[in-house]
Amino acid sequence: MTIQEIKNRFGIIGSSPSLDRAIDIAKQVAPTDLTVLITGESGTGKEVFPQIIHALSARKHGQYIAVNCGAIPEGTIDSELFGHEKGSFTSAHEARKGYFEVANGGTIFLDEVAEMPLATQARLLRVLETGEFIKVGSSKVLKTDARVVAATNVNIQQAIEKGKFREDLYYRLNTVPINVPPLRERKQDIFLLFRKFASDFSTKYRMPTIKLDTEAEGLLSNYYFQGNVRQLKNITEQISVIEKQRDITADIMRTYLPQQQVSQLPMVMNNSVQGGDFSERDLLYKVLFDMKKDLTDLKKIVVDLIENDNQLNQDFLPENAQIIKKLYQEVGTAESPIQLGYNTSTPTTVVQKVPEKIPVQEVEEANLSLQGVEEDMIRKALEKYKGKRKKAAKELGISERTLYRKITEYDIK
Ligand SMILES: Nc1ncnc2c1ncn2[C@@H]1O[C@H](COP(=O)(O)OP(=O)(O)O)[C@@H](O)[C@H]1O
Ligand SMILES: [Mg+2]
Repeated sequence: MTIQEIKNRFGIIGSSPSLDRAIDIAKQVAPTDLTVLITGESGTGKEVFPQIIHALSARKHGQYIAVNCGAIPEGTIDSELFGHEKGSFTSAHEARKGYFEVANGGTIFLDEVAEMPLATQARLLRVLETGEFIKVGSSKVLKTDARVVAATNVNIQQAIEKGKFREDLYYRLNTVPINVPPLRERKQDIFLLFRKFASDFSTKYRMPTIKLDTEAEGLLSNYYFQGNVRQLKNITEQISVIEKQRDITADIMRTYLPQQQVSQLPMVMNNSVQGGDFSERDLLYKVLFDMKKDLTDLKKIVVDLIENDNQLNQDFLPENAQIIKKLYQEVGTAESPIQLGYNTSTPTTVVQKVPEKIPVQEVEEANLSLQGVEEDMIRKALEKYKGKRKKAAKELGISERTLYRKITEYDIK
């Protein structure tokens, strides 16, 4: 199969040599049983590589299992990967096969492998070296023949230095490395990808395809794309859904390309410089807190709107679109834009479909957890300034009166 045929079959867009090279390595290594480690920033398109490797290997009729190591809780990952015996822990009512057993004769893709807990890393190393594993709660050694492809978007070297990743496992995984380059290093692909996404979204939303003028195209091609192809795809979807005007100028385009720094962050950072010893975690809390508050407010607006006027009419659309657009710009950089437990995977979910059941309860839950964070912040600020409300209020960016009210509300001594 040629590289072009692989691209066609797997829907890969792009013509840059660095992408071709990555595909070529995948092709070469596929028929072997070697372990492959795919590296690259988030959103560069790593997920298609293990699929190529599996499909072009003799294992193609075996099982292909993709596991996101970052998404499985530490307490259950061993049992998911290696299985467990009946009764090995409280909720283990039945024995269960693990993915390594199921993928016997096939391929297992370990995504975000750097997130794997150290104890699981030890089990993984063993299965890579000997094919042996033991179910949780068992002492019987079992064998499996599963080919492993792993991926990571963090600097594994750093994880190793911090003692969070086993060096021996890294070398074992990294038998064949494939690096997927960031989008900004393959500029020639940006416009190709844009055109493909624009055409896909025009079909999906039954609207004319958006078109860029020369200046807008230049702007897009030279953008940094911290979130790589995923970000480009999101931006294209936003424009496709929101803009009535289908000829996109540079001015319009600019409003969709976020400034590189997260806008809220520098402000808070400044506070910290004057304010001294608020830890980085506290600052992040604060940013998250502000952001979640915006989201909660937005949810309330939507809930109110729906309750008052059970139908979102067309007049409401542009305003709604503006809010969503702003939100995308605030939170939508690296990963898929709205993933904060907020119930809209794409803007259209809100714009075009009215949810039948309104997540009022979710709004309340968000409030509860926010209150916890808020209370924590207030306590810390008061402690830091030894109870001096004026200074604490300033640090928190709220008025003294609000602070006073909050102190009473949370019963802070
Ligand atoms: N070369 C490409 N051609 C077409 N779509 C791509 C390409 N690269 C990435 N994508 C799309 O971008 C999104 C992110 O890719 P993904 O593989 O999930 O990234 P990650 O590297 O974070 O795992 C997916 O929707 C994927 O289909
Ligand atoms: Mg991924």
